Amino acid sequence: MHGTEGELSRAAERLRRASRVTVATGAGVSAASGVPTFRGAGGLWNDFRPEELATPEAFARDPRLVWEWYEWRRRRIAGCAPNRAHEVIAAWSRRYPRFTLVTQNVDGLHERAGTRNVVRFHGSIWELACWSGCPPGERWRDERELPEPPPRCVRCGGLARPGVVWFGEPIEAAVLRASLAALECDVFLVAGTSGVVYPAAGLADEARRRGAFTIEVNPEVTEATPRFDLALQGRAEDLFDRLEKELSSGSRLSSSQ
Ligand code: APR
Repeated sequence: MHGTEGELSRAAERLRRASRVTVATGAGVSAASGVPTFRGAGGLWNDFRPEELATPEAFARDPRLVWEWYEWRRRRIAGCAPNRAHEVIAAWSRRYPRFTLVTQNVDGLHERAGTRNVVRFHGSIWELACWSGCPPGERWRDERELPEPPPRCVRCGGLARPGVVWFGEPIEAAVLRASLAALECDVFLVAGTSGVVYPAAGLADEARRRGAFTIEVNPEVTEATPRFDLALQGRAEDLFDRLEKELSSGSRLSSSQ
């Protein structure tokens, strides 16, 4: 059984010795906040078809249907709050001299927990971008309840799209650059992802290849589990809390605040 005290102490020891820490998160980290994951029990893709809702082709076919789904998710997420995992990651982001969070989550809960140096690998559900003529990559924030989906571009009045990365779309160059730079670290900890969506799922192997000690946090065994240096089997909200207790009980870390 993973997630034993011994494994937890090994993980804490690595984190205690580290000065460069990168955490990579997926939907599982927001599960305890009430945000549905995508796969597995209660996952969104059990009830909805990604090819009908999360691709540029789907949006071109029926922008209203896609927006109605994203607005449903926005309203649901608006009612959620960061959980203990978000809180501990935020504390680490203030404590470690060099810390990066690379998240696949578009829900904004890491930011709401006060996390510094967040790389939004798949964009944000709270941002919009122009689908029509404006230069790609220009986004604006809009957390309001959308009056009449689909919303319009604030610049050209054309159709606007959700500021998220859809299946088949590339990761923004600046985001990829920041994520690859974050692989140069002492500890690369991955939490709450099934590790099936690339290129995000390839980051841990690359971090390990570059010398990072890699840790997985997940209640399930994933395809990637055998490739981690250490796998802690359990829920993020519990394991981050236990890691933080272990760190603060034996901490030699100097606060860089
Ligand atoms: N703590 C930690 N992990 C958890 C928890 C929890 N409380 N609950 C569930 N998990 C794990 C599941 O075991 C699963 O491995 O979180 C993972 C969630 O996997 P997915 O639903 O596939 O989510 P994710 O990996 O983030 O999806 C990747 O796919 O749909 C696209 O763009 C979307 O960013 C998303 C990407």
